Amino acid sequence: MPVDDTPEATRLEQLWSGTFGDDYVERNLGAYDQREPFWTELHHTHGFTSALEIGCNVGGNLQWIAPHLAPGHCYGIDINAKAIAHLHQRLPGVNAVWSPGRELPFRDRWFDLVFTMGVLIHQPEATLPLVMAEMVRASRRWVLMGEYYAATTEEVPYRGVDGALFRRDYGAIFASLFPDHRLAERGFLGRDTGWDDITWWLFERG
Ligand SMILES: C[S@@+](CC[C@H](N)C(=O)[O-])C[C@H]1O[C@@H](n2cnc3c(N)ncnc32)[C@H](O)[C@@H]1O
Repeated sequence: MPVDDTPEATRLEQLWSGTFGDDYVERNLGAYDQREPFWTELHHTHGFTSALEIGCNVGGNLQWIAPHLAPGHCYGIDINAKAIAHLHQRLPGVNAVWSPGRELPFRDRWFDLVFTMGVLIHQPEATLPLVMAEMVRASRRWVLMGEYYAATTEEVPYRGVDGALFRRDYGAIFASLFPDHRLAERGFLGRDTGWDDITWWLFERG
């Protein structure tokens, strides 16, 4: 898919590629220990055999998914090179590459599950549908989004940068764009889970 080079998407990609993103990596290196139960339960319930995370950072989710999958079936992409370097060191069995979420370097329907956790919140309006479309294209079955929820789109102040974080009804936006997918499950992950009050939606290709 050709890149729709909107200035807002480019600005946010540059933000996350640079020191802003590097600082996020350092700040959160120890933040992922509590996430194992969610991923084990999701895998137990839905039995996906391969997975791709968009915006995987250092692998705080993939570290809990990879043990459930056959070698070579766990993938991540991120726009921050430092995060990818950390991931390669921490999780040598995970395939992680640098890429923007709106132009995934994978074939159609290559993965059983494609997901984001706290990444669509950093997409501007113009490219949110593009990233969702890339998730749908790369997935043969499941699409999961774990993001900050609001009934109507609202910007949230984020570390002094304008237009960098949005609460939205991601489930409703996805359902309206991709009516051939059905909502299989929806849940909430509070602060005691290793996340930060996120709502998640799991869609299945119809
Ligand atoms: C808030 S962090 C979430 C990290 C991880 N998903 C988690 O659950 O801990 C957002 C991540 O998305 C990456 N990111 C932001 N915008 C991106 C984009 N347009 N394409 C790919 N990755 C992006 C950032 O570099 C960062 O690693």
